[in-house]
Amino acid sequence: MRGFRNLSYFVFVIIFLLHFGVWCNGDTESTMAAPMEKNEINALYSTIQGFVGKWWNGSDLYPDPCGWTPIQGVSCDLFDGFWYVTDLNIGPIHDNSLSCAPNVEFNPNLYTLKHLKSLSFFNCFVSPRHHPTSISTESWEFLASSLESLEFRSNSGLIGQIPSTFGRLIKLQSLVLVENGLYGEMPRNLGNLVNLQRLSLAGNKLNGEIPDTFGGFTQLLICDLSRNSLSGVLPKALFGGLVSLLKLDLSYNKLQGKIPEEISRLKNLTLLDLSNNKLSGGLTKSLQEMTCLEELVLSNNPMGGFLEILDWQNMRKLTTLDLSNMNLTGGIPGSIADLKKLRFLGLNDNKLTGQIPKSLENLPNASAIYLYGNNLTGELQFSEWFYGKMGRRFGVWGNKNVCYPFGLVSTRNVPFGVKICQQELNFIIDLDETKSKLDHGNFVIQDSNSSMGYLSYDNGIWRSLIVELFIVFLLPLN
Ligand SMILES: *[C@@H]1O[C@H](CO)[C@@H](O)[C@H](O)[C@H]1NC(C)=O
Ligand SMILES: *[C@@H]1O[C@H](CO)[C@@H](O)[C@H](O)[C@H]1NC(C)=O
Ligand SMILES: *[C@@H]1O[C@H](CO)[C@@H](O)[C@H](O)[C@H]1NC(C)=O
Ligand SMILES: *[C@@H]1O[C@H](CO)[C@@H](O)[C@H](O)[C@H]1NC(C)=O
Ligand SMILES: *[C@@H]1O[C@H](CO)[C@@H](O)[C@H](O)[C@H]1NC(C)=O
Ligand SMILES: *[C@@H]1O[C@H](CO)[C@@H](O)[C@H](O)[C@H]1NC(C)=O
Repeated sequence: MRGFRNLSYFVFVIIFLLHFGVWCNGDTESTMAAPMEKNEINALYSTIQGFVGKWWNGSDLYPDPCGWTPIQGVSCDLFDGFWYVTDLNIGPIHDNSLSCAPNVEFNPNLYTLKHLKSLSFFNCFVSPRHHPTSISTESWEFLASSLESLEFRSNSGLIGQIPSTFGRLIKLQSLVLVENGLYGEMPRNLGNLVNLQRLSLAGNKLNGEIPDTFGGFTQLLICDLSRNSLSGVLPKALFGGLVSLLKLDLSYNKLQGKIPEEISRLKNLTLLDLSNNKLSGGLTKSLQEMTCLEELVLSNNPMGGFLEILDWQNMRKLTTLDLSNMNLTGGIPGSIADLKKLRFLGLNDNKLTGQIPKSLENLPNASAIYLYGNNLTGELQFSEWFYGKMGRRFGVWGNKNVCYPFGLVSTRNVPFGVKICQQELNFIIDLDETKSKLDHGNFVIQDSNSSMGYLSYDNGIWRSLIVELFIVFLLPLN
């Protein structure tokens, strides 16, 4: 260690000399040996003991917690010639990091770490039954002048409300409270955190409405409030303010009402996920102005209205468009085929009618197109190459008036769950009937109009057709 230290010192001095042509007398050496205030060491030790357990005596940090032998999870920086803790990460992130005690608690000394910039807890409060803990509401304001990142992740035993005192941490750029047991309403005064760039409260049991004060996050890039029990309508004020936003995920809540027209003010948004809510009132026309959108996921909402109401070709950056199970009516607009970047298209489980545009075949990167469970009609016009490429990821089953033309598609590539067009079947059966008669075969058509085509025969080439009909009609029933 000593040798390495001297070497780096030597290299530093050489570089310094080259740059400034002066002899520097050992500043780096004294930097490395910089002291840490007694108060700071004590505060750090007792804070860690509060989370890790009283048995922990800091021997891992010997001889000093910020110098040559820091432990995982603690980082420091120099202020006025003294070391101060800047980052504290509690929880099993690395093999040798600090793991939490079963009876973990917030030690008030935490708030005396006056240069703390980043504080995170991962998998630390994990006993919801035996030791449920709420976040202390006290004293957070003492960290207001330094704390930039606060994170509680995967703490099932962390319950209660988000303390409104978090609203005093005005330097916060990142507030991440993900996968905990937090409940209650989100404090309105979180809206004071005007420097926030990331707000993620996903995977808790938060309820109540989204406060309109959240429109104050003018620097916010990522907002994820998904997987809670938030209710009420989407506040219009939200969309006036979040001008920088790139990702908005409010999925898996109980939000209702119409998506406000104001949503299109989020000009830079690339991801909008409002799926699995109770949104209604039809698709909002102004969505088509959100030309940066790459992922639009609105599935599983009783939205209603027409799919064709939007000029889809405006949203050329879309790679994911999921509008499944939204009670949508009308036809599938051909303009969707202009979204050349599309990889995933989900329009299944709606009430869509009309023909399926053949142009969907021209989506070069489409890896899944789901149209099943609608009321689409007509003969599929796609090429056999397309059916072969897509397999079951071209999902058209459950549209009882859709069929594919026989003869153009080999058995191997027929679209899954789709029947052969009736006219063609009749035509071929007629042909074959004639042929059978000529051949003195035994071919009987019991009901040529039935889509099930009750055929019985002992003619070899038809056997594969029967097998195919069974596959097509009986498998999807399971
Ligand atoms: C600190 O704890 C370790 C074991 O956890 C023990 O070996 C060591 O003696 C303790 N040091 C002090 C100063 O108590
Ligand atoms: C939107 O993105 C562009 C390009 O990245 C950027 O120049 C602009 O500042 C962003 N707008 C806002 C309001 O952040
Ligand atoms: C679907 O829309 C129809 C009107 O087109 C409406 O009567 C029906 O209640 C809606 N269904 C659901 C589940 O919202
Ligand atoms: C299709 O995907 C490839 C590979 O990811 C990409 O290079 C190409 O730009 C994509 N095409 C379109 C039209 O987005
Ligand atoms: C499907 O559409 C046809 C008209 O094309 C209509 O008669 C029928 O009622 C619709 N079925 C359902 C379940 O909506
Ligand atoms: C088949 O349908 C036509 C009209 O669609 C009808 O005239 C004919 O009787 C039907 N045949 C049988 C066997 O049901």
